[in-house]
Amino acid sequence: MNAHLPTTTGFVDPDDQDTNTSPNTHFGEVLAQGLSRRGVLRGGLGGAMAALFAPIGLTACGGSDSTPASPPPAAPVEKLLGFTAVAKTLADTNTVPSGYKARVILACGDPLAAGVPAYKNDGTDTNYAQRMGDCHDGIQYFGLSATGQRDDNSSSRALLASNHEYITPVVLHANGPSPNPRPASQADIEIDCHGVSVAEVAKDAAGLFQVVVNSPFNRRITGSTEIELSGPARGNALFVTRFSPNGTRTRGTLNNCGNGKTPWGTLLTTEENWSGYYFRAAGDQARRSTKLNASFARYGRNVTATTAANSRYGWETAGTGDAYARFNTSVVGSSADGSDDFRHEWFTQGYMVEIDPYSASSTVKKRTGLGRLAHENSAFGLPQAGKPLAVYMGCDSQNEYVYKWVSAANWTAADAQAANRMAIGDKYLDSGKLYVARFNADGTGDWIELSLSNAAIAGASFGFTEQAEIYIHTRIAADAVGATKMDRPEWVDVHPTTGELYITMTNNSSRRVAPTGTQTLVDAANPRAYVDVRSGTVTQSGNVNGHIVRFKDTSPETTRFTWDVYLFGAEAGSDGALVNLSGLTADNDFSSPDGLAFTPSTGLCWIQTDDGAFTDVTNCMLLASIPGTLGDGAAKTLSYGTTSVTTRMGKKATSDTLKRFYVGPYDCEVTGLCETPDGKTVFINIQHPGDGTAVADLADPTKYTSQWPSNVGHGAGKRPRSATVVITKDDGGRIGT
Ligand code: FEO
Ligand code: CA
Ligand code: CA
Repeated sequence: MNAHLPTTTGFVDPDDQDTNTSPNTHFGEVLAQGLSRRGVLRGGLGGAMAALFAPIGLTACGGSDSTPASPPPAAPVEKLLGFTAVAKTLADTNTVPSGYKARVILACGDPLAAGVPAYKNDGTDTNYAQRMGDCHDGIQYFGLSATGQRDDNSSSRALLASNHEYITPVVLHANGPSPNPRPASQADIEIDCHGVSVAEVAKDAAGLFQVVVNSPFNRRITGSTEIELSGPARGNALFVTRFSPNGTRTRGTLNNCGNGKTPWGTLLTTEENWSGYYFRAAGDQARRSTKLNASFARYGRNVTATTAANSRYGWETAGTGDAYARFNTSVVGSSADGSDDFRHEWFTQGYMVEIDPYSASSTVKKRTGLGRLAHENSAFGLPQAGKPLAVYMGCDSQNEYVYKWVSAANWTAADAQAANRMAIGDKYLDSGKLYVARFNADGTGDWIELSLSNAAIAGASFGFTEQAEIYIHTRIAADAVGATKMDRPEWVDVHPTTGELYITMTNNSSRRVAPTGTQTLVDAANPRAYVDVRSGTVTQSGNVNGHIVRFKDTSPETTRFTWDVYLFGAEAGSDGALVNLSGLTADNDFSSPDGLAFTPSTGLCWIQTDDGAFTDVTNCMLLASIPGTLGDGAAKTLSYGTTSVTTRMGKKATSDTLKRFYVGPYDCEVTGLCETPDGKTVFINIQHPGDGTAVADLADPTKYTSQWPSNVGHGAGKRPRSATVVITKDDGGRIGT
């Protein structure tokens, strides 16, 4: 999500909320220093550009039957990043390099079941539990054979699993969203537009991927789907509700942001900004323990005797039935254990959620052991037979942390193709250890186990009394052990051959050289704080443009890692000493990296933006990069007047290692990416185009801030819609070459 957040109540972007008041320390000294990106252009690009990476020459794969009588023509030499960089643009369309095509499928509202009416796109459509949801985010590719079996090598038929992070209420209803009390008909649409979709796609006779509308694999998991609570917190007293008196089940997965794919072929999706979906009444604090009030505050649901925590969409006002009442997480019943109300419903959200896409009737499970966070996405380290599996995760809010799950079970290669996929999930995701990261100034880091046996947790004033509490109040346990506050950890992914992890830090408006109040001091891993002026008038402060941290574990279970900063986002013309540290140029400058994914076929690293700083110049974008290796750069000292911070940088970018590949439509976020195994098709998701459109302008499509994707030929109506984009190369080659 980005700056445009339509809402029915006074809603604050949860990513920009900082509930981390822990005193975790940072190195460095304090000095006020600000600078304007367009006012101070000291050094420009800098003199010493790093040495170029040698472009990797590869023989094109694929090809056709050749005539045996004469020598076959020389195969074209494939060059990674061989395309011409796309220019920054505010055009309301898909902009791809010459020689590529982008085509839209699976837009919000497109039918996913036979008999569902075509989408009218005028705010009168219903049946969203059988249509694509809204606000597409993470996407993963699950191959299918011609006979409909799992086939990890299939590039012609697959299931695409997409997250639907939130909604754009303005365009979902004929005249925009009604105020509280919300009509049940509108709440039903909005709840069903959340969650996850599994949609079959297959190549047609022309070789183009099309949606298989009547596929038995198609599935919607929504904000009301029944889900099992699994793992070490299952059955905890804090999971007891009127729906599940034994605390083993809940309903709905909400605010599904990024996602990941397990080594055994399931989806691991996330719950990010779930907390704000729940109403908590003024005065509820008097009916809760000190401990629970501390937890509510740490996750953004604090109330006082006179101030309620209002819900994001007001669904709890839509009726008295449980479908709506469950969004009021206040004590309203008289029971001692919460079995007569939904006071604990909020504690059943915020987890990693495993879904088997190959079975539309399979049970969905929340894996509580991986902690309760603002989960952005998940990435497995490269599996090693006989070693535990490691799962890496970021908690995306200001000044939150990076986490790692290490399975108790050692990896057995045969599990990769096991038929009982959810049981394999039980094996690796329900028993293990949870760690949080501390980034040290010397380029090392520590994984600190979140365990009751850690004296800092056992002795914390919060009063942890059982390990399960650590999985529910995870942020508080991480505070206690001195984890490093990061600049909003977003997507993490693993390099397919080096095994190094790359994690985006999208931006942090509270990062400062001279903090006041709750602002956070610059440190080695989050070294930048500056002032950026957008559109000549809007001043933004902190780490405005974000960066990408890279780290390496020598084994999945190690508690020691090494790190550097792979790339710093910046505008090309900004100060080379403090802002444009990676030497970005017009062909590759970017701001607010969010989505990040490797394509194993090429080894390229794809970087996607969700930005509110550079959007006066360009819509959000997708860049392709040839990553190096950790430590390929050098230490870099940022001098802020009389104080300084030394970070560890990767090599600077060059036009041979980083290029802008795609720019999305107006008012969108570019997020989520997956490829066919042959590397010749890439799917990306476009979230909330045109979400700056005003309700008052709904009658006049010329006033919509975007008309995408109807303006590129997809679907009826001109209201903007989130959708999936299919990218192919005209010569049939691999994407990014
Ligand atoms: Fe949903 Fe942190 O982006
Ligand atoms: Ca994101
Ligand atoms: Ca974001």
